[in-house]
Amino acid sequence: MGMDINNLPLIREECEILHMTDKQLKEIMSRLHNDLVKGLSRDTHPTAIVKCWLTYIQDLPNGKERGKFLALDLGGTNFRVLIINLGENHFDMQSKIYAIPSHIMTGTGVALFDHIAECLANFMKEHNVYEERLALGFTFSFPLKQMGLTKGILQRWTKGFSCSGAIGEDVVQGLKDAIARRGDLNLSVMGILNDATGTLMSCAHKERNCRVGVIIGTGSNACYVEKTENCELFEGEPTKPAMLINTEWGAFGDDGALDFVRTEFDREVDSNSINPGKQIQEKMISGMYMGELVRLALVKFTTMGLLFGGRGSDLLFQRNSFYTKYVSEIESDKPGDYTSCMDVLEELGLSHATESDMAAVRHVCECVSRRAAHLVSAGIATLLNKMNEPKVTVGIDGSVYRFHPHFHTLMCEKIAQLVRPGITFDLMLSEDGSGRGAALVAAVACRETLGFA
Ligand code: BGC
Repeated sequence: MGMDINNLPLIREECEILHMTDKQLKEIMSRLHNDLVKGLSRDTHPTAIVKCWLTYIQDLPNGKERGKFLALDLGGTNFRVLIINLGENHFDMQSKIYAIPSHIMTGTGVALFDHIAECLANFMKEHNVYEERLALGFTFSFPLKQMGLTKGILQRWTKGFSCSGAIGEDVVQGLKDAIARRGDLNLSVMGILNDATGTLMSCAHKERNCRVGVIIGTGSNACYVEKTENCELFEGEPTKPAMLINTEWGAFGDDGALDFVRTEFDREVDSNSINPGKQIQEKMISGMYMGELVRLALVKFTTMGLLFGGRGSDLLFQRNSFYTKYVSEIESDKPGDYTSCMDVLEELGLSHATESDMAAVRHVCECVSRRAAHLVSAGIATLLNKMNEPKVTVGIDGSVYRFHPHFHTLMCEKIAQLVRPGITFDLMLSEDGSGRGAALVAAVACRETLGFA
């Protein structure tokens, strides 16, 4: 091993650009607040960046939902089909993960829906419900302009999807058409929703004061409960006091609102993505991009001669080779211990890393993940302040929140600093929100259509 020159102080200095001060976070909160209001208001909605789509969900679960439901969950790391039994005190659920091959992710919309319908049919056969007429909830986690609980027009693809002929089309119709083309399934699609909405619904099933659902996974988004009177785009009778709003906050920053805190790494991640200029906040937060942000910083410091003795590896210089799960693994090492860090570096062909290199790699991971946690915290604090209720539970799901060892703690600390005095909150892991949520939406919809509450 060569001499271990400690460049950590220089690397720390370079990483300062990833640090956001409370002053900056408060500025972000005020910009996000303005954007939320623009999304909700009739006059400003058409040009708004954070769209605040209506979900047409006005009832939270009351715990009395019963029955057997199918659910589809598309838009996270995996595509899943689920069958869920809502009973008195239990939640019985079976599911299966199906691959979405990359030629389907970037093929045609029709082929995507045919694939989904085929997986659904196979699943129904395996679970002996092929002949049954079941209600289905569809968690489709992309920005939708909803025109009702069962009508949603796709606005844009995110997270690596780019199927042609789907934008501007009703996704529920797309699914129904695919089912009709097969001709063998008998289903009623009771609702379409997004994973953030599903997370809120499923958390609210357990926690009566849940008012926010957040996803920090492959992508990022939030859903919250807004007063119907503020939902200016809602055209129905305002008979119920509130509606769930799908903010689509991943798009925050698409007009430059976050440029004052973005770094060269963010700009590079964006320009290498399949949707440049879009989903700017999402690209600073979510699992699809976090590892790549770390990699770009490591590449820079290696090229500057501050890391690995200036000698990288083929993999280090290859795009997307630093997985986001590495960030969680490296940060799970105890202070002073670099076991996982060493494994990761070895996998990347960097076994010549010294101990101070490892400390530096870990520092870069911490800076990138802390920044993401703080940005999400600013978003959640903005929603809590806007709702202005004394005690709110926030349901959260997604791989980053679930597997990163410090995300939860970082968020609790930061949100507490950013909310108005008097507001208290809990952050609750809401496992499987998108699957359960879809069943709950279908159940609540059945309850409504059948006319009993
Ligand atoms: C999508 C949202 C979704 C989020 C988390 C974003 O890319 O636009 O609809 O909720 O990812 O999956």
